Amino acid sequence: MRVLGIETSCDESAAAIVEDSHRILANTVATQIDVHRRYGGVVPEVASRQHLQTIMPVVETALHLAGCGWDAIDGVAVTHGPGLAGSLLIGVNAAKALAFARRKPLVGLNHLESHIYANWLDTDTPTEPPAFPALCLVVSGGHTDLIVMEDHGRYRRLGRTVDDAAGEAFDKVARLLDLGFPGGPAIEKIAATVQRRELELPRAWLPGTFNFSFSGLKTAVLNLTREPEHPEAPEVAAAFQESVVDVLCAKTVRAARELEVRQILVAGGVAANGALRRELSARAPVPVRVPPPRYCTDNAAMVAACGYFHFRTGERSDFALDVEPSLAFAS
Ligand code: KG4
Ligand code: ZN
Repeated sequence: MRVLGIETSCDESAAAIVEDSHRILANTVATQIDVHRRYGGVVPEVASRQHLQTIMPVVETALHLAGCGWDAIDGVAVTHGPGLAGSLLIGVNAAKALAFARRKPLVGLNHLESHIYANWLDTDTPTEPPAFPALCLVVSGGHTDLIVMEDHGRYRRLGRTVDDAAGEAFDKVARLLDLGFPGGPAIEKIAATVQRRELELPRAWLPGTFNFSFSGLKTAVLNLTREPEHPEAPEVAAAFQESVVDVLCAKTVRAARELEVRQILVAGGVAANGALRRELSARAPVPVRVPPPRYCTDNAAMVAACGYFHFRTGERSDFALDVEPSLAFAS
């Protein structure tokens, strides 16, 4: 089965064609980073206008790269939430129009669930598909969730952030340190230049829960930058990253032990972070899977992979499918 995936929940217009949940035939991402950079963050109106211009060319490119016509496509999967309303609207309407015109089944998907399915995509090293029960750490610009996945479509949330998402904290701290947008890669890069770090920043443990909190850490950085003799940006970036990674790892490792899961699946833009990837793999009691960085940040291959499992159960969305900017997941 070949699924065309479409993703426009934030600032990437993406289309991909994936066969049987894992074989990537095409994966096209038109990023808007350069457009939003001059504003220091994603501007929703600008994002939706960009999606409108790029989504159809991106779909055409994906079909071209996969070397397949519409006859070879078995279904269209699209992100319908959560995300920016105006951005989601472009992808959902494109998917509905294509599914209607080409008489293909349509399915609307949750963006967070799709992030998890990046772990099913083929990488350079052949591996078995993930084993259940799996513990999913979803760390993106808008979410930080710890979820148990019992099987396809069966999720239970253990914890979430009570304030900022991990990616949001990276972006805000990068802005405080004048490192530009997006903040995650900028912080990772500058933190890597620090040989010996003395600065320690706080960690919010929220004992007895699997919840996270990053706003206090962000405030600690803000207060530090206001001090007349504050440490250099690389030192602060390194201490900040260490603090986020330490808390994410500690909670994930404890949950993996207590719930006796077989694997840990990491997903979302922050999963591209090398320090998190290394430290979690080193500390975890079970194997850790993290998609290659290009499948951690927003893409449509993960949407197509997720769509495969939805289609397989016979699930379909009708043409009343609408955007759900605050769509919940695993609640
Ligand atoms: O999943 P994603 O592409 O979009 C959302 O669904 O939010 O995640 C974007 C987030 C941004 O906050 C970005 O700063 C962060 O992922 N990110 C990183 C890295 N690459 C992207 N955070 C830390 N280290 C990175 N290398
Ligand atoms: Zn995302």
